[in-house]
Amino acid sequence: MAEAETISVTAPADFHVHLRQGALSELVTSHVRLGGFTLAYVMPNLQPPIKNTEEALLYKAQLQAIDPTIEYLMTLYLSPELTPGEIRKAKAAGVVGVKSYPRGVTTNSDGGIESYETYYPIFRAMEEVDMVLNLHGEVPSSSSSSPTTSSNNNICVLNAEPLFLPHLIQLHSAFPKLRIVLEHATTRAAVECVKSLGETVACTITAHHLALTVDDWAGQAWHFCKPVAKFPDDRLALREVVKEGHPRFFLGSDSAPHPPSKKSTASPSQPCAAGVYTSPILLPLTAHLLESFGALDKLEGFVSGHGRAFYRRPAKSERKTVLKRVSGKSVEAKWTKGGEEVVPFWAGKAIGWEIVP
Ligand code: NCD
Ligand code: DOR
Ligand code: ZN
Ligand code: ZN
Repeated sequence: MAEAETISVTAPADFHVHLRQGALSELVTSHVRLGGFTLAYVMPNLQPPIKNTEEALLYKAQLQAIDPTIEYLMTLYLSPELTPGEIRKAKAAGVVGVKSYPRGVTTNSDGGIESYETYYPIFRAMEEVDMVLNLHGEVPSSSSSSPTTSSNNNICVLNAEPLFLPHLIQLHSAFPKLRIVLEHATTRAAVECVKSLGETVACTITAHHLALTVDDWAGQAWHFCKPVAKFPDDRLALREVVKEGHPRFFLGSDSAPHPPSKKSTASPSQPCAAGVYTSPILLPLTAHLLESFGALDKLEGFVSGHGRAFYRRPAKSERKTVLKRVSGKSVEAKWTKGGEEVVPFWAGKAIGWEIVP
């Protein structure tokens, strides 16, 4: 059978993206549409984080001022300041979810959480009003925990996600009706765990984790993100669940731009910022990757249908985004605006699909 020359997708939706603030936000927010997407589920880890309804609405207005054509779904950062009353207020204002970051494991998560039980009154309120809990599913590494706790617990970036899964299982059993999304899964263990749980538990997968393994980020700062890409067999599990078309697995790009100076490790005292930036190429990249492992027919479900069904956000229009096959279009080396610069994933590399304007 001849290979398709075009493929079309109704209302692509990115269910996990970092749109930042200030000048960087001006640059990257416009890349949601450029990358083929019409819905952005917006992460709250700004500096300072988005912790209440008022801040979420202000942030949404800022994003709408940059590109009013995107549907922004807003989230709050789980923190001790959050109350059940604020959850009800947020729900009434249209805020969709609450993101939990374990302390110290990822960018801007120093104010994140360590124990979940203290948040049970919040989760109970979320379950009642039907808000979504978004989990950054890693336990903190021993190197980032305080010196007074055991420093020999053998936790590091390679096992931080599997070690988190008991928390997910416990949360789901304590709050079976609470919709929970395990964000940016990177391991076979996470895929199997989510599959084993009920209909209220879903999982996002990034485009870059369908491409990368440990070898790609060890020594290559631009491929470094949290959670880190894992073993080839883990990547295979992510690809298999996408190829299977499992309805509780869908795209959340975790597109996370940082200025090149923050990705650089040129100074021995400066760690590399975690984050891979995929927004401007997201739909063509995802099509390219799915085709590479024989799952192109699952593109629409993965980038639109499954996530929209879980979040109950049906497409507002039937308009389709059309991709056409190209013989190899190089990804831009960088994007700049207003003194800000970002470097996309796969810069200089060829992608076999482009969006028909
Ligand atoms: C979540 C996010 O931004 O990743 N919150 C957050 O990132 N701080 C929201 C979400 O995952 O929906
Ligand atoms: O790599 C990452 N970057 N992972 C996250 O969870 C956060 C993100 C960021 O905000 O830079
Ligand atoms: Zn995260
Ligand atoms: Zn993220």
